[in-house]
Order: sequence, then structure tokens, then C-alpha cells
Amino acid sequence: LFTAVEMAPRDPILGLNEQFAADSNPNKVNLGVGVYFDDNGKLPLLECVQAAEKAMMEKPSARGYLPIDGIAAYDAAVKSLVFGADSEPVTSGRVATVQGIGGTGGLKIGADFLKRVSPNAKVLISDPSWENHRALFTNAGFAVDTYAYYDADKRGVNFDGMLASLNSAAAGTIVVLHACCHNPTGYDITAAQWDQVIAVVKAKNLTAFLDMAYQGFGHGIAEDGAVIGKFVAAGLSFFVSTSFSKSFSLYGERVGALSVLCADKEEASRVLSQLKIVIRTNYSNPPIHGGAVVAAVLGNPELRALWEKELGEMRVRIKAMRQKLVDGLKAAGVQQDMSFITTQIGMFSYSGLSKDQMVRLRTEFGVYGTDTGRMCVAALNSKNIDYVCQAIAKVV
Ligand code: LMR
Repeated sequence: LFTAVEMAPRDPILGLNEQFAADSNPNKVNLGVGVYFDDNGKLPLLECVQAAEKAMMEKPSARGYLPIDGIAAYDAAVKSLVFGADSEPVTSGRVATVQGIGGTGGLKIGADFLKRVSPNAKVLISDPSWENHRALFTNAGFAVDTYAYYDADKRGVNFDGMLASLNSAAAGTIVVLHACCHNPTGYDITAAQWDQVIAVVKAKNLTAFLDMAYQGFGHGIAEDGAVIGKFVAAGLSFFVSTSFSKSFSLYGERVGALSVLCADKEEASRVLSQLKIVIRTNYSNPPIHGGAVVAAVLGNPELRALWEKELGEMRVRIKAMRQKLVDGLKAAGVQQDMSFITTQIGMFSYSGLSKDQMVRLRTEFGVYGTDTGRMCVAALNSKNIDYVCQAIAKVV
């Protein structure tokens, strides 16, 4: 049965974790996967999460099946966070939200649903994009192409190219957009540029699918989510996948969601019914714990304030590490101006290093980033930064 099965390549991001775990270099540093570590190199367990879990442990509850679309309080909390509690889409009931298995799960539910409603549509992802976007939409049965995004010479966004790509897309094309903290480049478009993108999405009748996995890691929760309000104001129906992996440091709990903004409440209930079929036929219904924790934190004003504070601290520390990286590279003798690292936002820096240089970093120094030159600056700390800077200086 399996004689013709070929060995699949390692995952370009998570595969690095396997290599990293097997690396015996005592100085190894994992800047591959997008995970935030604190200044001691530890994965944080947020205080707001601990407080919610403590309260849950004090009143242990039985573990029945969740509804197919997840915990009602969680879905409501996601809607409020993404669209605003008092926003018209939420109060009018025209958002269909389902709990997902992480942000990836939210994307996959949306992709499978879209395959039913727009089977012949093409999907456009940014060039470059999160490595899994192409694979996920391809596996959902779509032809995937790219729209222009990164300008390597300018070290920023090729916005004219992006607009031109979107303008030439066929009606009905599904466009995957990074709501904030573009992964992998760290370059976002401005508010005014979003307005132009939205105008093209509307004029060309494209379907926007926003991936918002890093809300709060750019400029703030509201600031990073502001683009959602712009799409709402434009009167568009669209998709948003969200994730609490990073913002709650709940990576392994796989807590995410998919929200679909519909024309009205009746349409939203029909869309929800279809999303539930996608879920039921994939994994039946989601797990409880992570969603319950997030719902408890977001539903309690004190815990929510604590979460915002802790998320803010992560954001500030990442920014500080960007500056330290720029300074450290200069001190280590890198001639090239690396100050662009501080103009990027979110967890990643698209370093501009070649695949050969990234492979050398890994094999000679145990410094892991993706082959495309992406490094997770959120995993830098005051203890590993000098080593990383010296290693980079040796390969550039
Ligand atoms: C990343 O880009 O490293 C993260 O989103 C983790 C993942 O699943 O790839």
C-alpha cells in the first residue's frame, strides 16, 4: 500500500524545531518558529492565564463535548475583540464566529468553506507570505498564486506592485491579507494604503481573508486590529482568522477562531451552519481548555487589564531587542546598515540573509532561522544577543 509513498520535505518552520532539538551545540538559539520567549529564554505562562486556571481548578468541571462551533462565551469574546463589543456587526448579529484549532485551524475552516462556495476561485497570498498559507490553501484544493508585496531593494513594501497585482486579479479571487505584523517580512502597509487596498478589493469584487495572528504585537491591540473596522466601513463581507497562541502565550492549547462578516443576521446563521459542517467532518468539535481560559480572561475586566499589560510588556521587549540587534550587529563589525530591523514590527525580522547564510548560521553556530532569512526577534534576549550578532557578523 505504501511502497510508492514519497518522503515529504520537513516543514520549513516547525521542521526547524526538530532539527534544533537534535542539535548538541550548547550555544544554540532558536529564532525559527514565531514564539515569544522572555529575557531568561523562558516561554512565559502569563499571570492572567494562571489566575484564570487557578479559578477553574477551584471549581473543576466535567468535560462533555463542546458545541461544534465552540464555547459560546469564547466566540462572543472573539467577536468583541475583533470587531468591537458595541460595533454594528456584533450588535446586529451578522458575524459568524467559530472556535478554531489555533489560527491555522481558523484558516483551514475558512478555506474549506470557501472551496464549497467559490470552488473555482484562485487564492492570492503575499510574496512572500507565511510558509503555511500556500500549503494550506493548496491542500484545500485551490490554485495559489502571489501578489507583489516585499521590495528587497527598498526594504519595505512594494505597494504599487501590490495594488497592480490586486487590480489585475479576476473577480472572486480570494486575497489573503496580513492584518498586522506581516509574517515573514515585518513590514505592514499604512492606514492610508489599507484604504487603497480595500477600495480595490471592493471595486474588483475580491474576497478578503484577513489573517490576524499577531494582534497586539505591533502597535497595540486596537491599533493592530484597526484594519477590521476599515473593511466593515467599506461594506464588505470578509473572513478573519485569529489566534491567541502568541498573544496569550498559549501555543500548545491551539486557541484560535474564524469570523465571517456576512450581509445580515440571517445570512450569518446560514454561513455558521456550513462552517459547522466543515468542523464536524474534520474534528467534530474543539477542545475545551484553551478556549475556556481565554474566555475567562477576556470576560473579566481585571484579568483582561492584566492581559493587556502583559501583552504590552512582550511588545515593548521585542522592540527593545530590535534596537539591541541593530546595535549589536554594528558592534560585531557588520558594515551594512541594519537599522531597517527597527522599522519592522511584530515578532519577525526579514534579515535579507541568503539561504546559504541561514544554513551556515544553523550548521556552524546553531542559530536557527528560516531559509528565507526570517528570524524571530521575540526569541532574542540579553544573554543570547551577543552570540547571535557575532554569528551573523561571521556569515554576512
Ligand atoms: C510561525 O510563523 O513561525 C508561526 O506562525 C508558527 C507556525 O505555525 O508556523
